[in-house]
Amino acid sequence: MSLSGPRVRHPLPPAHWPTRQAAAGSRWFSPIRIGRSLTALERTWVPAMVPWRATDDGLVTPEVLDWYARFADGQPGVLVVEATGIRDIASGPLLRIGDDRFVPGLRALVDTVREHSRGRTRLFIQILDFVTVRRRPEPERFFGRYLEVTDALRGQLALWLDDPRWREAPDQSVRAFLLAADRVTHETVLNDRELEALDYGYRERIWDTQLPHIQELPRVLPGLFADAARRAREAGFDGVELHYAHAYTMASFLSRLNTRRDGYGGSRENRVRLPLEVLAAVRARAGEDYVVGIRYLGDEVIEGGSDLDDAVWFGVRFAGAGVDYLSVSKGGRFEDAKQPKIGEAVYPYTGPSGYECMPTVLSDAGGPFGRNVPLAAAIRRAIRDAGWQTPVVTSGGIATFDQAEAILERGEADCVAAARQTLADPDWFRKIRLGYGDRVRRCEFTNYCEGLDQRHKQVTCKLWDRAFDPADPAVSLASDGRRRLSAPPWSPPDEG
Ligand SMILES: Cc1cc2nc3c(=O)[nH]c(=O)nc-3n(C[C@H](O)[C@H](O)[C@H](O)COP(=O)(O)O)c2cc1C
Ligand code: SF4
Repeated sequence: MSLSGPRVRHPLPPAHWPTRQAAAGSRWFSPIRIGRSLTALERTWVPAMVPWRATDDGLVTPEVLDWYARFADGQPGVLVVEATGIRDIASGPLLRIGDDRFVPGLRALVDTVREHSRGRTRLFIQILDFVTVRRRPEPERFFGRYLEVTDALRGQLALWLDDPRWREAPDQSVRAFLLAADRVTHETVLNDRELEALDYGYRERIWDTQLPHIQELPRVLPGLFADAARRAREAGFDGVELHYAHAYTMASFLSRLNTRRDGYGGSRENRVRLPLEVLAAVRARAGEDYVVGIRYLGDEVIEGGSDLDDAVWFGVRFAGAGVDYLSVSKGGRFEDAKQPKIGEAVYPYTGPSGYECMPTVLSDAGGPFGRNVPLAAAIRRAIRDAGWQTPVVTSGGIATFDQAEAILERGEADCVAAARQTLADPDWFRKIRLGYGDRVRRCEFTNYCEGLDQRHKQVTCKLWDRAFDPADPAVSLASDGRRRLSAPPWSPPDEG
């Protein structure tokens, strides 16, 4: 299902908060076993969110620690640390785990969460790989440097201009001509990928097997993921979450768009091959008792992409291969993303599939609330029918206790995750647990936070900014000096 029909603004769902006793007796606040030997004390879950607070070298900063400390204050059952790169390559202020030098910082993060949650929160880290995406270039740079002047391009020019001399034209003449040429000429002589590189920025595909580093992905990725998992264990995390969702390498292997011809693309069996090999390598390195989960897409929501049928099939295979939980997301692909401005990179949450990943109140008749639950429910049903008890996590527009409780009661998922609601109010689980649900600061689902993420700016919530005194020395501000960097503190009235 994707957005259909006219968009309307939806009100937030009404919230009836439970008493302390009712919360204690609820399904959402009850324990669950994950993997062979881990118990989460609750089924409350904070899924991965990138806050852009690492150093440019991918190291944990005090701001990273503060970000996770605030989530840990709310003591969710499970907290998943943001997508963290498994390679030792420059990736901007994204956390990295591609070398042993990252371990001490990550260990400090683990210690911080243990302390702030008083040992009540189980902590996983999401590990990911991605391929190259470049910023949309200035036309001068594109035609002057980036575009490869091939014989095919010269041939297209000769045909379009009806002048065979272009077949022998020097590189510089081709570049100068194209820079000055009109749009129709560009659309005629450039192939689809060249035109995309001009309009959106160069972007690799995992089926570009003519590129040696793409060809070798199946050979290198199991080892890279396994090493990252070993480091996660050394740092003290309770488990790793393999990022097989959204716009990144592993989701692209699972995609129906994957046309690799080396046994890793085409049929479902081939598309799931590398994801299963990575899972096996991680399991072998991290140990049987270590939690290894997978986050993947219940539906890509793009033309020609994988849908729920694929996701159900993959889910059963992952469960059969011994994954410890499945966290189901939706959409967030590059294929339908909006054109970025010159100098910016394409962002996978701007198109219709991006909407499905982080739905807002401006929605179709279905609305954003619990919109993606049917995907998790179908996957869970198929897994149970196949005889596996693997827990399934759902997320997407979940913002009240009642929603979460109903999802669990209907058996649509085993854990219920909330990203933006927990960003808006990291204390909300604790407030509900203690019977102060009426004090929850409710997410408005208008995606100010996602806009910051898009520009790789430190992510904050617009609701935190309403209540602070910029002169207060206890308030730390984002690097633009205008926003508070973490949620205002809260303690229960009886603690003063
Ligand atoms: C700022 C921000 C960063 C996110 N980063 C990640 C990420 O690193 N990995 C991931 O799997 N999902 C990421 N997500 C998606 C969320 O985990 C979640 O699936 C999505 O926001 C829908 O849930 P919600 O409606 O509870 O917010 C991010 C979401 C936001 C708002
Ligand atoms: S910025 Fe908006 S969408 Fe994001 S968490 Fe805050 S209220 Fe929710």
